[in-house]
Amino acid sequence: MSVKWHEGRVIENRHWTDSAFSLRVEGPRLAFRAGQFVRIALEENLARAFSFVNPPHDPTLEFYGIVVPEGPLSPRLARLRAGDRLLVASNPAGFLVLSEVPASARSLWLVSTGTGIAPFLSILQTDEPWRRFENVVLVHAVRHTAELVYQEMIRQISTEHGLRIVTFVSREAAPGSLGGRIPAAIRDGRLEKAAGLALDHEAHLMLCGNPDMLRDAQAALGERGLRKHRRRNPGHISVESFW
Ligand SMILES: Cc1cc2nc3c(=O)[nH]c(=O)nc-3n(C[C@H](O)[C@H](O)[C@H](O)COP(=O)(O)OP(=O)(O)OC[C@H]3O[C@@H](n4cnc5c(N)ncnc54)[C@H](O)[C@@H]3O)c2cc1C
Ligand SMILES: NC(=O)c1ccc[n+]([C@@H]2O[C@H](COP(=O)([O-])OP(=O)(O)OC[C@H]3O[C@@H](n4cnc5c(N)ncnc54)[C@H](OP(=O)(O)O)[C@@H]3O)[C@@H](O)[C@H]2O)c1
Repeated sequence: MSVKWHEGRVIENRHWTDSAFSLRVEGPRLAFRAGQFVRIALEENLARAFSFVNPPHDPTLEFYGIVVPEGPLSPRLARLRAGDRLLVASNPAGFLVLSEVPASARSLWLVSTGTGIAPFLSILQTDEPWRRFENVVLVHAVRHTAELVYQEMIRQISTEHGLRIVTFVSREAAPGSLGGRIPAAIRDGRLEKAAGLALDHEAHLMLCGNPDMLRDAQAALGERGLRKHRRRNPGHISVESFW
């Protein structure tokens, strides 16, 4: 089936750092579920998947990206300005959605590195997590403090709904954030301590971002008896790899 493309207009390109940017785009009306992604492009033959940051009820599309200097598309996306054209595919997709999380889960852990926070921001702006789970934890690991993005939105959600927040900054000292990496902090108990919540069999974890983190975190969780969730073989972990 050939993909249809919608033409969108950039209304803002916010630069958080030299390499981290958020594009807000108007025009395309898309039906999707929080946590899904869609392919975006400047020309149809060079498209890349981007997760929606906006929740489905918000008609302004938002994408959060990082410049991969040698990458063919992301440096060009970072240079877009208000008024520029962006092509958005008509077929959002993806399984990193709450409808895939077993009804038995009582706590939801949204665990991300870098731009992997994007789908979780969409999920957190919907009502569903607060109706379904006793506790929701957002974990975001970045190299530098300046990449702890969307702090204002996250703080607001925390104030309104009691979201628990754990941040990691791995390449500089950062007061208020853990150092090192997520898998090590699962193993030595620092993650649970920082969240104030046990990672037990009532937890469901959604992991998103760097594929090495997905692999290493699943190994650390596996040592505690938590395994990947499959529809036919229910478990505790859902994953989405960004590359
Ligand atoms: C399901 C899905 C959802 C995605 N959602 C997002 C998103 O919301 N935001 C986003 O920035 N990217 C996202 N990506 C990655 C995105 O599709 C592109 O790969 C990325 O923007 C780089 O594009 P590029 O053409 O410049 O380089 P590419 O040729 O696509 O990638 C080159 C290399 O860059 C590295 N890389 C790619 N993406 C990232 C990243 N996000 N962070 C760090 N290193 C990376 C990898 O080593 C990769 O091999 C997603 C990918 C998938 C599969
Ligand atoms: N972030 C920047 O300053 C920056 C600036 C310009 C361009 N870029 C480009 O962006 C890309 C990297 O993006 P990024 O910094 O968002 O992503 P990243 O390399 O995935 O790093 C994000 C976080 O994930 C951690 N991580 C990496 N491997 C892990 C593993 N196996 N287990 C657990 N955690 C792990 C990193 O820790 P470690 O620090 O320990 O690896 C870091 O805290 C590169 O292509 C780079 O060229 C990045």
